[in-house]
Amino acid sequence: MIDHMFGKITLSIIKPDAVQKGYVSPILYKIVHAGFHIIAIKITELSKKSATKFYAEHKKKLFFESLVKFMSSGPIVSVILKKENAVKDFRILIGETNPVHAKKGTIRNLYATSLEKNAIHGSDSNQNAIKECLFYFSNREIFF
Ligand code: PPS
Repeated sequence: MIDHMFGKITLSIIKPDAVQKGYVSPILYKIVHAGFHIIAIKITELSKKSATKFYAEHKKKLFFESLVKFMSSGPIVSVILKKENAVKDFRILIGETNPVHAKKGTIRNLYATSLEKNAIHGSDSNQNAIKECLFYFSNREIFF
């Protein structure tokens, strides 16, 4: 079961823009170098229906349709990362949502090109991390 990992895991998605540009390898290198352990990984594609479900909490936002279209536009790499304080530390590593505001050396500063094409996703809370990990992976695909 994944519940015992509460507070120690986060879900990341390398988004279609970064996959298409060939940034999977440098991004994963940076993540592992920062002390995160990859305990599950897959390359996959979201249908519009799945993307709508994954981003359901944002469905009232003006950008929702565009975000769903973008996230289902090509392959993504979803990854479960293990580390103490995973959610918080990972969000520091990736930087602000808008790459214009992302600190130098963060993943979004290095690889993102716009608010939408911002290269990478990280869970925003420990509760959502568990939920998001189970959205992409079954318990049998996760190696604690
Ligand atoms: S909010 O408004 O604070 O809840 O939004 P935020 O948490 O920063 O972002 C939620 C996800 O929506 C993406 N996003 C956008 N996509 C397209 N266009 C615009 N304008 C836009 N603004 C935010 C943002 O990248 C987040 O995606 P994830 O996958 O969670 O990183």
